[in-house]
Amino acid sequence: MKKSILITGGAGFIGSNLVIHFVRKYPDYRIVNLDALTYAGNLENLKEIEGAPNYSFVKGDIADAALLEKLFGEYAFTGVIHLAAESHVDRSITDPLAFVRTNVIGTTRLLQAALQHWQGDFSDKLFYHVSTDEVYGTLGETGYFTEETPYDPRSPYSASKASSDHFVRAFYHTYGLPVVISNCSNNYGPYQFPEKLIPLVINNIREQRPIPIYGDGKYTRDWLWVGDHVEAIDLLFHKGRRGETYNIGGNSEWKNIELVELLCDLTDAELGRPVGSSRQLITFVKDRPGHDRRYAIDATKLQSDMGWTPKVKAEDGFRQTVQWYLAHQDWLDNLTSGAYRKYYEKQYAQ
Ligand code: NAD
Ligand code: TYD
Repeated sequence: MKKSILITGGAGFIGSNLVIHFVRKYPDYRIVNLDALTYAGNLENLKEIEGAPNYSFVKGDIADAALLEKLFGEYAFTGVIHLAAESHVDRSITDPLAFVRTNVIGTTRLLQAALQHWQGDFSDKLFYHVSTDEVYGTLGETGYFTEETPYDPRSPYSASKASSDHFVRAFYHTYGLPVVISNCSNNYGPYQFPEKLIPLVINNIREQRPIPIYGDGKYTRDWLWVGDHVEAIDLLFHKGRRGETYNIGGNSEWKNIELVELLCDLTDAELGRPVGSSRQLITFVKDRPGHDRRYAIDATKLQSDMGWTPKVKAEDGFRQTVQWYLAHQDWLDNLTSGAYRKYYEKQYAQ
Protein backbone atom coordinates (compact mmCIF):
# COMPACT_ATOMS: atom_id res chain seq x y z
CA MET A 1 0.00 0.00 0.00
CA LYS A 2 1.34 3.43 -1.02
CA LYS A 3 -0.33 5.31 1.85
CA SER A 4 -2.14 4.40 5.05
CA ILE A 5 -4.82 6.96 5.84
CA LEU A 6 -7.01 7.40 8.89
CA ILE A 7 -10.32 9.09 8.03
CA THR A 8 -12.34 10.06 11.09
CA GLY A 9 -16.10 10.55 10.96
CA GLY A 10 -16.32 8.49 7.77
CA ALA A 11 -19.83 7.23 8.55
CA GLY A 12 -21.29 10.76 8.56
CA PHE A 13 -22.46 12.89 5.65
CA ILE A 14 -19.27 14.31 4.15
CA GLY A 15 -17.13 11.50 5.59
CA SER A 16 -19.04 8.73 3.84
CA ASN A 17 -18.90 10.58 0.51
CA LEU A 18 -15.14 11.04 1.05
CA VAL A 19 -14.47 7.44 2.12
CA ILE A 20 -16.31 6.06 -0.92
CA HIS A 21 -14.31 8.41 -3.18
CA PHE A 22 -10.92 7.48 -1.68
CA VAL A 23 -11.55 3.72 -1.46
CA ARG A 24 -12.60 3.59 -5.11
CA LYS A 25 -10.13 6.04 -6.58
CA TYR A 26 -7.04 4.85 -4.70
CA PRO A 27 -6.99 1.04 -4.50
CA ASP A 28 -3.35 1.27 -3.40
CA TYR A 29 -4.17 3.35 -0.31
CA ARG A 30 -5.27 1.68 2.91
CA ILE A 31 -8.28 3.58 4.25
CA VAL A 32 -9.21 3.13 7.91
CA ASN A 33 -12.48 4.77 8.92
CA LEU A 34 -12.74 5.56 12.63
CA ASP A 35 -16.24 6.58 13.66
CA ALA A 36 -18.09 6.45 16.99
CA LEU A 37 -21.43 5.91 15.20
CA THR A 38 -23.24 8.62 17.09
CA TYR A 39 -26.80 9.39 15.96
CA ALA A 40 -25.18 11.03 12.87
CA GLY A 41 -23.04 8.05 11.84
CA ASN A 42 -24.56 5.38 9.65
CA LEU A 43 -22.81 2.34 8.18
CA GLU A 44 -25.59 1.98 5.61
CA ASN A 45 -23.96 4.92 3.82
CA LEU A 46 -20.90 2.76 3.16
CA LYS A 47 -22.53 -0.45 1.89
CA GLU A 48 -21.06 -0.12 -1.59
CA ILE A 49 -17.45 -0.26 -0.35
CA GLU A 50 -17.71 -2.21 2.93
CA GLY A 51 -16.08 -5.33 1.46
CA ALA A 52 -13.30 -3.50 -0.42
CA PRO A 53 -9.83 -5.00 0.28
CA ASN A 54 -8.28 -1.56 0.98
CA TYR A 55 -10.94 -0.54 3.52
CA SER A 56 -11.44 -1.15 7.25
CA PHE A 57 -13.96 0.25 9.66
CA VAL A 58 -13.25 0.78 13.37
CA LYS A 59 -16.03 1.79 15.75
CA GLY A 60 -14.49 4.11 18.31
CA ASP A 61 -14.13 7.55 19.78
CA ILE A 62 -11.49 10.06 18.64
CA ALA A 63 -11.15 11.12 22.28
CA ASP A 64 -10.02 7.59 23.27
CA ALA A 65 -6.23 8.00 23.51
CA ALA A 66 -5.56 4.28 24.06
CA LEU A 67 -7.51 3.35 20.95
CA LEU A 68 -5.65 5.96 18.88
CA GLU A 69 -2.34 4.64 20.18
CA LYS A 70 -3.30 1.11 19.15
CA LEU A 71 -4.52 2.16 15.69
CA PHE A 72 -1.45 4.28 14.89
CA GLY A 73 0.73 1.33 15.98
CA GLU A 74 -1.22 -1.21 13.96
CA TYR A 75 -1.70 0.75 10.72
CA ALA A 76 1.32 3.11 10.71
CA PHE A 77 -0.77 5.93 9.26
CA THR A 78 0.97 8.39 6.96
CA GLY A 79 -2.05 10.68 6.77
CA VAL A 80 -5.08 11.69 8.79
CA ILE A 81 -8.17 13.32 7.31
CA HIS A 82 -10.16 14.50 10.29
CA LEU A 83 -13.90 15.01 9.88
CA ALA A 84 -15.38 13.48 13.05
CA ALA A 85 -17.32 16.16 14.89
CA GLU A 86 -20.55 17.13 16.46
CA SER A 87 -21.87 19.19 13.56
CA HIS A 88 -25.34 20.60 14.19
CA VAL A 89 -25.68 24.19 15.45
CA ASP A 90 -29.09 23.63 17.07
CA ARG A 91 -27.78 20.69 19.10
CA SER A 92 -24.79 22.78 20.20
CA ILE A 93 -27.19 25.30 21.69
CA THR A 94 -28.76 22.67 23.95
CA ASP A 95 -25.59 20.67 24.72
CA PRO A 96 -22.40 22.74 24.22
CA LEU A 97 -20.16 20.42 26.24
CA ALA A 98 -20.69 17.52 23.85
CA PHE A 99 -19.15 19.82 21.22
CA VAL A 100 -16.19 20.69 23.44
CA ARG A 101 -15.62 17.02 24.13
CA THR A 102 -15.51 15.78 20.56
CA ASN A 103 -14.50 18.85 18.56
CA VAL A 104 -11.91 20.29 20.93
CA ILE A 105 -10.69 17.45 23.16
CA GLY A 106 -11.13 14.76 20.51
CA THR A 107 -9.23 16.81 17.91
CA THR A 108 -6.41 17.53 20.37
CA ARG A 109 -6.09 13.83 21.28
CA LEU A 110 -5.85 13.02 17.60
CA LEU A 111 -3.16 15.68 17.11
CA GLN A 112 -1.21 14.22 20.04
CA ALA A 113 -1.41 10.70 18.63
CA ALA A 114 -0.18 11.89 15.22
CA LEU A 115 2.64 13.89 16.80
CA GLN A 116 3.76 11.00 18.97
CA HIS A 117 3.95 8.62 16.01
CA TRP A 118 5.38 10.98 13.41
CA GLN A 119 7.87 12.93 15.53
CA GLY A 120 11.37 12.58 14.08
CA ASP A 121 10.11 11.96 10.57
CA PHE A 122 7.45 14.34 9.31
CA SER A 123 8.27 13.69 5.64
CA ASP A 124 5.26 12.51 3.62
CA LYS A 125 2.98 12.90 6.64
CA LEU A 126 -0.11 15.09 6.82
CA PHE A 127 -2.78 15.92 9.36
CA TYR A 128 -5.66 17.36 7.30
CA HIS A 129 -8.32 19.10 9.39
CA VAL A 130 -11.76 19.63 7.83
CA SER A 131 -13.39 22.76 9.20
CA THR A 132 -16.17 25.19 8.50
CA ASP A 133 -16.69 28.78 7.35
CA GLU A 134 -18.78 29.33 10.49
CA VAL A 135 -15.57 30.07 12.44
CA TYR A 136 -15.49 33.49 10.72
CA GLY A 137 -18.79 34.57 12.25
CA THR A 138 -21.40 36.39 10.24
CA LEU A 139 -21.52 38.79 7.27
CA GLY A 140 -23.86 41.65 6.44
CA GLU A 141 -25.37 42.10 2.97
CA THR A 142 -21.95 42.36 1.32
CA GLY A 143 -18.42 40.97 1.61
CA TYR A 144 -16.85 37.53 1.72
CA PHE A 145 -14.83 35.40 4.13
CA THR A 146 -11.19 35.09 3.05
CA GLU A 147 -8.45 33.09 4.77
CA GLU A 148 -7.45 36.36 6.50
CA THR A 149 -10.87 37.09 8.00
CA PRO A 150 -10.49 37.15 11.80
CA TYR A 151 -12.19 34.35 13.67
CA ASP A 152 -15.45 35.42 15.33
CA PRO A 153 -17.49 32.30 16.15
CA ARG A 154 -20.92 32.95 17.59
CA SER A 155 -22.48 29.52 18.25
CA PRO A 156 -21.14 26.79 20.53
CA TYR A 157 -20.65 24.68 17.37
CA SER A 158 -18.57 27.31 15.58
CA ALA A 159 -16.70 28.15 18.79
CA SER A 160 -15.69 24.50 19.17
CA LYS A 161 -14.61 24.26 15.53
CA ALA A 162 -12.64 27.54 15.84
CA SER A 163 -10.94 26.14 18.91
CA SER A 164 -10.04 22.93 17.09
CA ASP A 165 -8.59 24.98 14.20
CA HIS A 166 -6.46 26.91 16.70
CA PHE A 167 -5.13 23.66 18.20
CA VAL A 168 -4.26 22.35 14.74
CA ARG A 169 -2.31 25.55 13.97
CA ALA A 170 -0.70 25.47 17.41
CA PHE A 171 0.63 21.95 16.71
CA TYR A 172 2.07 23.21 13.41
CA HIS A 173 3.83 26.21 14.96
CA THR A 174 4.89 24.58 18.24
CA TYR A 175 5.87 21.06 17.18
CA GLY A 176 6.15 21.35 13.40
CA LEU A 177 3.34 18.85 12.82
CA PRO A 178 2.54 18.99 9.08
CA VAL A 179 -1.04 20.23 8.83
CA VAL A 180 -3.51 21.61 6.31
CA ILE A 181 -6.86 23.16 7.24
CA SER A 182 -9.82 23.84 4.99
CA ASN A 183 -12.87 25.91 5.91
CA CYS A 184 -15.87 25.06 3.79
CA SER A 185 -19.34 26.50 3.29
CA ASN A 186 -22.63 24.55 3.66
CA ASN A 187 -22.61 21.20 1.87
CA TYR A 188 -25.57 19.37 0.38
CA GLY A 189 -26.12 16.02 -1.35
CA PRO A 190 -26.62 12.32 -0.51
CA TYR A 191 -26.33 10.95 3.05
CA GLN A 192 -26.88 14.21 4.95
CA PHE A 193 -28.63 13.61 8.25
CA PRO A 194 -32.21 14.96 8.02
CA GLU A 195 -31.80 17.40 10.91
CA LYS A 196 -30.03 19.74 8.45
CA LEU A 197 -32.09 22.14 6.35
CA ILE A 198 -32.15 20.52 2.89
CA PRO A 199 -32.92 16.87 3.78
CA LEU A 200 -35.29 18.06 6.53
CA VAL A 201 -37.28 20.08 3.99
CA ILE A 202 -37.40 17.25 1.44
CA ASN A 203 -38.48 14.80 4.14
CA ASN A 204 -41.22 17.11 5.41
CA ILE A 205 -42.54 17.72 1.91
CA ARG A 206 -42.61 13.95 1.35
CA GLU A 207 -44.59 13.52 4.57
CA GLN A 208 -46.64 16.69 3.99
CA ARG A 209 -45.59 18.10 7.33
CA PRO A 210 -44.97 21.81 8.10
CA ILE A 211 -41.60 23.12 6.84
CA PRO A 212 -40.03 25.15 9.68
CA ILE A 213 -38.23 28.33 8.57
CA TYR A 214 -36.36 30.17 11.30
CA GLY A 215 -36.99 33.90 11.72
CA ASP A 216 -37.70 35.88 8.55
CA GLY A 217 -36.18 33.23 6.24
CA LYS A 218 -33.73 35.75 4.76
CA TYR A 219 -30.65 34.15 6.31
CA THR A 220 -28.18 33.35 3.55
CA ARG A 221 -25.90 30.37 3.02
CA ASP A 222 -23.35 29.53 0.30
CA TRP A 223 -24.23 25.99 -0.85
CA LEU A 224 -21.71 23.50 -2.22
CA TRP A 225 -22.34 20.04 -3.70
CA VAL A 226 -20.68 17.53 -1.37
CA GLY A 227 -18.86 15.85 -4.28
CA ASP A 228 -17.15 19.17 -5.07
CA HIS A 229 -16.02 19.41 -1.44
CA VAL A 230 -14.67 15.85 -1.63
CA GLU A 231 -12.68 16.75 -4.77
CA ALA A 232 -11.23 19.79 -3.01
CA ILE A 233 -10.20 17.66 -0.02
CA ASP A 234 -8.57 15.13 -2.37
CA LEU A 235 -6.59 17.93 -4.08
CA LEU A 236 -5.52 19.55 -0.81
CA PHE A 237 -4.63 16.24 0.78
CA HIS A 238 -2.19 15.61 -2.07
CA LYS A 239 -1.01 19.16 -2.87
CA GLY A 240 -1.91 21.47 0.03
CA ARG A 241 0.97 23.49 1.43
CA ARG A 242 1.86 22.61 5.02
CA GLY A 243 0.64 25.09 7.61
CA GLU A 244 -1.81 26.69 5.17
CA THR A 245 -5.54 27.29 5.33
CA TYR A 246 -7.81 27.13 2.28
CA ASN A 247 -11.39 28.34 1.98
CA ILE A 248 -13.80 26.19 -0.03
CA GLY A 249 -17.14 27.55 -1.22
CA GLY A 250 -19.87 27.05 -3.77
CA ASN A 251 -20.12 30.65 -4.99
CA SER A 252 -23.84 29.96 -4.73
CA GLU A 253 -25.69 32.10 -2.22
CA TRP A 254 -29.30 31.39 -1.40
CA LYS A 255 -31.65 32.98 1.08
CA ASN A 256 -33.27 30.13 3.04
CA ILE A 257 -36.77 31.02 1.88
CA GLU A 258 -35.75 31.05 -1.80
CA LEU A 259 -33.99 27.74 -1.45
CA VAL A 260 -36.92 26.14 0.36
CA GLU A 261 -39.37 27.37 -2.30
CA LEU A 262 -37.19 25.85 -4.99
CA LEU A 263 -36.99 22.55 -3.08
CA CYS A 264 -40.80 22.56 -2.78
CA ASP A 265 -41.19 22.97 -6.53
CA LEU A 266 -38.53 20.38 -7.41
CA THR A 267 -40.01 17.85 -5.00
CA ASP A 268 -43.56 18.48 -6.21
CA ALA A 269 -42.41 17.87 -9.78
CA GLU A 270 -40.71 14.60 -8.82
CA LEU A 271 -43.74 13.40 -6.83
CA GLY A 272 -46.23 14.38 -9.55
CA ARG A 273 -47.95 16.91 -7.29
CA PRO A 274 -49.08 20.29 -8.65
CA VAL A 275 -45.88 22.34 -8.73
CA GLY A 276 -46.02 24.96 -5.98
CA SER A 277 -48.53 23.11 -3.80
CA SER A 278 -45.93 22.20 -1.14
CA ARG A 279 -45.11 25.88 -0.59
CA GLN A 280 -48.24 25.89 1.56
CA LEU A 281 -46.33 23.79 4.10
CA ILE A 282 -43.85 26.64 4.75
CA THR A 283 -44.20 27.79 8.35
CA PHE A 284 -42.19 30.57 9.95
CA VAL A 285 -41.08 29.49 13.44
CA LYS A 286 -39.09 31.12 16.24
CA ASP A 287 -35.56 32.04 15.28
CA ARG A 288 -32.39 30.19 16.23
CA PRO A 289 -30.62 32.11 19.03
CA GLY A 290 -27.49 33.86 17.76
CA HIS A 291 -28.43 32.97 14.17
CA ASP A 292 -25.65 34.03 11.76
CA ARG A 293 -27.16 36.22 9.05
CA ARG A 294 -25.01 35.41 6.05
CA TYR A 295 -22.06 33.22 5.07
CA ALA A 296 -20.20 33.67 1.78
CA ILE A 297 -16.82 32.30 0.84
CA ASP A 298 -14.07 33.77 -1.28
CA ALA A 299 -12.33 30.64 -2.63
CA THR A 300 -9.86 32.53 -4.85
CA LYS A 301 -6.82 30.98 -3.12
CA LEU A 302 -7.94 27.41 -3.80
CA GLN A 303 -8.81 28.36 -7.35
CA SER A 304 -5.52 30.07 -8.14
CA ASP A 305 -3.25 27.64 -6.23
CA MET A 306 -4.94 24.37 -7.19
CA GLY A 307 -7.22 25.19 -10.13
CA TRP A 308 -10.28 24.02 -8.19
CA THR A 309 -13.75 25.36 -8.95
CA PRO A 310 -17.11 23.83 -8.07
CA LYS A 311 -18.36 21.68 -10.95
CA VAL A 312 -22.00 21.11 -10.04
CA LYS A 313 -24.43 24.00 -10.66
CA ALA A 314 -26.83 24.62 -7.78
CA GLU A 315 -30.06 23.91 -9.67
CA ASP A 316 -28.68 20.59 -11.00
CA GLY A 317 -27.31 19.65 -7.59
CA PHE A 318 -30.55 20.47 -5.78
CA ARG A 319 -32.55 18.42 -8.31
CA GLN A 320 -30.17 15.46 -7.93
CA THR A 321 -30.42 15.79 -4.16
CA VAL A 322 -34.23 15.74 -4.20
CA GLN A 323 -34.12 12.69 -6.50
CA TRP A 324 -31.62 10.93 -4.24
CA TYR A 325 -33.69 11.35 -1.04
CA LEU A 326 -36.89 10.30 -2.80
CA ALA A 327 -35.12 7.21 -4.15
CA HIS A 328 -33.82 6.40 -0.64
CA GLN A 329 -36.97 6.69 1.43
CA ASP A 330 -36.04 3.61 3.51
CA TRP A 331 -32.79 5.35 4.46
CA LEU A 332 -34.77 8.42 5.56
CA ASP A 333 -37.37 6.32 7.39
CA ASN A 334 -34.68 4.45 9.34
CA LEU A 335 -33.14 7.72 10.52
CA THR A 336 -36.31 9.65 11.25
CA SER A 337 -37.83 7.09 13.61
CA GLY A 338 -36.97 6.58 17.28
CA ALA A 339 -34.58 9.02 18.96
CA TYR A 340 -34.68 11.48 16.08
CA ARG A 341 -38.46 11.87 16.37
CA LYS A 342 -38.04 12.86 20.02
CA TYR A 343 -35.33 15.40 19.12
CA TYR A 344 -37.58 16.82 16.40
CA GLU A 345 -40.58 17.26 18.68
CA LYS A 346 -38.46 19.05 21.28
CA GLN A 347 -36.58 21.25 18.78
CA TYR A 348 -39.68 22.44 16.94
CA ALA A 349 -42.06 22.78 19.90
CA GLN A 350 -43.32 26.40 19.79
P1 NAD B 1 -21.99 14.58 10.41
O1 NAD B 1 -22.59 15.03 11.69
O2 NAD B 1 -22.87 14.12 9.30
O3 NAD B 1 -20.96 13.39 10.71
C1 NAD B 1 -20.08 13.41 11.79
C2 NAD B 1 -19.54 12.00 11.98
O4 NAD B 1 -18.61 12.03 13.07
C3 NAD B 1 -20.61 10.96 12.34
O5 NAD B 1 -20.44 9.81 11.56
C4 NAD B 1 -20.37 10.69 13.81
O6 NAD B 1 -20.72 9.36 14.19
C5 NAD B 1 -18.88 10.92 13.92
N1 NAD B 1 -18.46 11.28 15.29
C6 NAD B 1 -19.02 12.21 16.11
N2 NAD B 1 -18.37 12.24 17.28
C7 NAD B 1 -17.36 11.33 17.20
C8 NAD B 1 -16.32 10.92 18.09
N3 NAD B 1 -16.20 11.46 19.31
N4 NAD B 1 -15.46 9.99 17.65
C9 NAD B 1 -15.57 9.44 16.43
N5 NAD B 1 -16.53 9.77 15.56
C10 NAD B 1 -17.41 10.71 15.93
O7 NAD B 1 -21.06 15.79 9.93
P2 NAD B 1 -20.71 16.29 8.45
O8 NAD B 1 -21.74 17.26 8.03
O9 NAD B 1 -20.37 15.14 7.59
O10 NAD B 1 -19.39 17.13 8.76
C11 NAD B 1 -18.11 16.50 8.76
C12 NAD B 1 -17.05 17.52 9.08
O11 NAD B 1 -17.09 18.58 8.13
C13 NAD B 1 -17.23 18.18 10.45
O12 NAD B 1 -15.97 18.34 11.03
C14 NAD B 1 -17.88 19.53 10.12
O13 NAD B 1 -17.54 20.49 11.09
C15 NAD B 1 -17.25 19.82 8.78
N6 NAD B 1 -18.05 20.67 7.88
C16 NAD B 1 -19.33 20.34 7.58
C17 NAD B 1 -20.06 21.14 6.70
C18 NAD B 1 -21.47 20.79 6.30
O14 NAD B 1 -22.12 21.58 5.59
N7 NAD B 1 -22.00 19.64 6.66
C19 NAD B 1 -19.46 22.27 6.13
C20 NAD B 1 -18.14 22.57 6.47
C21 NAD B 1 -17.44 21.76 7.33
P1 TYD C 1 -28.33 24.12 8.82
O1 TYD C 1 -28.61 23.11 7.75
O2 TYD C 1 -28.60 23.76 10.25
O3 TYD C 1 -26.83 24.62 8.62
P2 TYD C 1 -26.01 25.83 9.35
O4 TYD C 1 -26.81 26.38 10.45
O5 TYD C 1 -24.79 25.12 9.83
O6 TYD C 1 -25.74 26.83 8.27
O7 TYD C 1 -29.19 25.42 8.51
C1 TYD C 1 -29.07 26.13 7.28
C2 TYD C 1 -29.90 27.39 7.38
O8 TYD C 1 -31.29 27.02 7.48
C3 TYD C 1 -29.62 28.22 8.62
O9 TYD C 1 -29.76 29.60 8.32
C4 TYD C 1 -30.71 27.81 9.60
C5 TYD C 1 -31.89 27.51 8.68
N1 TYD C 1 -32.84 26.48 9.17
C6 TYD C 1 -34.20 26.77 9.18
O10 TYD C 1 -34.65 27.87 8.80
N2 TYD C 1 -35.04 25.78 9.62
C7 TYD C 1 -34.60 24.57 10.06
O11 TYD C 1 -35.43 23.72 10.48
C8 TYD C 1 -33.19 24.29 10.02
C9 TYD C 1 -32.65 22.98 10.49
C10 TYD C 1 -32.35 25.29 9.55
